[in-house]
Amino acid sequence: MYLGLDLGTSSLKALLIDADQRILGSASAPLSVERPHPGWSEQDPDSWITATKAALAELAKTHAAELAKVRGIGLSGHMHGATTIDRGGKVIRPCILWNDTRSYEEAAALDADPQFRRLTGNIVFPGFTAPKLKWMAANEPDAFARVAKVLLPKDYLRLWLSGESISEMSDSAGTSWLDVGKRAWDDGLLAATGLDRSQMPSLVEGTDRAGALRAEAASQLGLPAGIPIAGGAGDNAASACGMGTVADGQAFASLGTSGVLFAANNRYLPNPDSAVHAFCHALPGTWHQMGVILSATDSLNWLSGITSTEPSALTAELGDSLVAPGSVLFLPYLSGERTPHNDAAIRGVFAGLGHESDRAAMTRAVVEGVAFAFRDSLAALAQAGTSLSRVTAIGGGSRSSYWTQALATVLGMPVDIPEGGDFGAAFGAARLGLIAAEAADPFAVCTPPATARTIHPNRDLAAGFDDAYQRYRALYPAIKGAMS
Ligand code: XUL
Repeated sequence: MYLGLDLGTSSLKALLIDADQRILGSASAPLSVERPHPGWSEQDPDSWITATKAALAELAKTHAAELAKVRGIGLSGHMHGATTIDRGGKVIRPCILWNDTRSYEEAAALDADPQFRRLTGNIVFPGFTAPKLKWMAANEPDAFARVAKVLLPKDYLRLWLSGESISEMSDSAGTSWLDVGKRAWDDGLLAATGLDRSQMPSLVEGTDRAGALRAEAASQLGLPAGIPIAGGAGDNAASACGMGTVADGQAFASLGTSGVLFAANNRYLPNPDSAVHAFCHALPGTWHQMGVILSATDSLNWLSGITSTEPSALTAELGDSLVAPGSVLFLPYLSGERTPHNDAAIRGVFAGLGHESDRAAMTRAVVEGVAFAFRDSLAALAQAGTSLSRVTAIGGGSRSSYWTQALATVLGMPVDIPEGGDFGAAFGAARLGLIAAEAADPFAVCTPPATARTIHPNRDLAAGFDDAYQRYRALYPAIKGAMS
């Protein structure tokens, strides 16, 4: 048995697999995000531990015997969060999350220092870790002075599980402190942020062993003491391990809280100018690129909140057959945007509303707007040397047939829907736990699921969607001018 723990933004999920990678069971515990000021997004790191205990207690109700036989654990987590720890191992302040944009000025300043793009292969986005520490240094100097370690969210969970400060390449690539080509911390980048290597965890590959379960944590979780914990991965690379997106040219589109168009690469292919992320993959000697949309299903969640209607009820109102876009357009920039704009200050907009525009028209515009954002990411990946011919859709939004039809038509390529099953980040993490525990061949373990069905682009509607996409493209420069 192997256990995957995925620390998501809205819940922590524990998933148990057997030696044949069959899913035996899973359980989740909710997490909340605090937004004390506009643009801020924080989480209490201790809530991750409470949630881990709650998820394991839930899983133990039906699978206690199997949990007692777990041989390896893999970790996945939301990326980029700054979890600051003092000398005594205590959390200094709430973790500043991936979708927090308060440090946009610090990010721009670091990004203007040429060594960052040259060594990290990425823009220094405000969501990344380094500018958050710069922000702390400027705004919370006493707290900054106490920082003994900066840990990514899942690595804080590892600290509690194993007592060790260790990270791995895929998540560390999103800090702006890693030389992503060399897979090593860079002293110059750390120094530019007022930090040094002693404040960083040690580094392993995602498939390596990285700590062993402490006896006390083991007894609280109903797991055997001493079992190995894999390096694991940032949630996107972990999902890729779950989806078998590990060979060059394979890709997935994740319609989750954030939207991600992810492509696996067998070499390092940076192109910061197109706002593409170029990160290490979780498997040794591999990298990946991705375009990131900050609010994907989160845009629908927002509409759901203000209309007091469940997201699934909103998409159900659209029916099952894709129709041509109407006059209403939506830009999904509720917390700014990464790819392709790198703009933390921009905000979303509905355009083209008329007296006839009803709730369904607005839902359609949200669904289409997110699909258009994926097309922007597709173009950005193409500029970075990766052209895709099909993608597999995952994430909550992929359960809407209307949304996947819109995505296939807007991207102009087939979208595969995997066979029923749970191939997300928790499954990928469990696979990494298996690989680390058994020293298994990662490529033999991380295979793709069978395709249940393929959604083809709707050729009759392609021209209408192209036209709407051009109108969508024209809106960003217009609202940028109007808002600044
Ligand atoms: C990736 C990113 C998000 C988070 C949240 O760069 O910021 O996908 O990992 O899950």
